[in-house]
Amino acid sequence: MEQTLALIKPDAVASNAVGAIIQRMEREEFRICAMRMLHLSTHEAATFYHAHKGKSFFDSLVSFMTSGPLVALVLERENAISHWRKIMGATDYRKAEEGSLRKEFATALERNAVHGSDAEETAREEIAFFFSTRERA
Ligand code: TYD
Repeated sequence: MEQTLALIKPDAVASNAVGAIIQRMEREEFRICAMRMLHLSTHEAATFYHAHKGKSFFDSLVSFMTSGPLVALVLERENAISHWRKIMGATDYRKAEEGSLRKEFATALERNAVHGSDAEETAREEIAFFFSTRERA
């Protein structure tokens, strides 16, 4: 079974959408293998988004990701990576599909409620970034 790293970002935590988003994960038949709430430091957020270093939105993205606590989860099911990205919707919430989480919960391009790994390699890296082997059920 494939695994992916999902984040419920600080905007969604602040607007009390954690329960609704986890409910959707379970409804989509993801198994939750690991879960924790944490508040990222600037260094951690910059490391997590290192692929975007140098882009115009990088500093603002890091500042947003450290603005409050977030929830990190490891989700497992068939085609977990692509299925979770489909449920999230497009990065730009204005283009997010009807029924997607970003359509429902995002309030700006940056404040888009959820994250999901984009490929097998990044999923492995991102899962290891948030969780030790012992924390994964
Ligand atoms: P990205 O990895 O391209 O998208 P996704 O989260 O869908 O995998 O970008 C990471 C985050 O950076 C994205 O969720 C929102 C933010 N972002 C901006 O603020 N401005 C931008 O122009 C882009 C492309 C992303």
